[in-house]
Amino acid sequence: MLSTRVVLIGFMGSGKSSVGRLLAKENKTLFLDTDAMIESSEGMTVSEIFSEKGEMYFRTLENDTVAWLKANVNTAVISAGGGMLVYCKALKEVGTIVYLKVPFKTILSRMTPAELEKRPLFKSPKEAEVIYNERNAIYEEQADIVINADDTIDNVLNALVSTTS
Ligand code: S3P
Repeated sequence: MLSTRVVLIGFMGSGKSSVGRLLAKENKTLFLDTDAMIESSEGMTVSEIFSEKGEMYFRTLENDTVAWLKANVNTAVISAGGGMLVYCKALKEVGTIVYLKVPFKTILSRMTPAELEKRPLFKSPKEAEVIYNERNAIYEEQADIVINADDTIDNVLNALVSTTS
């Protein structure tokens, strides 16, 4: 049973939403995805927000979402957008920060055209790898728990269940 808010962080394509949904189900608790929350309140996709309003506007919405989570949610599994920990320092105060660590080559293999379309920051493999390397250092430094997520979804879920309960 989860006693607090668990926040899954990691690079785009690290499996935060897929495994987060399963962890929430396992614990019979709420699952929240910050990108989906922003999309539903804005009535636009993340890609549309980036192209029509710009990244800084999106980051403001992410900060608002963090404040909302802190004020309104007690127990939940939260999948955080890949840049949230970098642009919203208060994310650390939301709960236990769990980094789903996946090597860049696995991330690349998961980036189908449909996945790429949802991710405006994933402009090319070369540019994404630069961001990956910067982010990996931050994620590792800031996370309370680091999980090897380069594995089957069942194994990642088991690792999460045993480290967060
Ligand atoms: C971003 C990651 C995306 C989304 C936005 C920006 C980032 O979320 O929030 O495109 O800066 O890494 P996912 O990590 O869920 O893909």
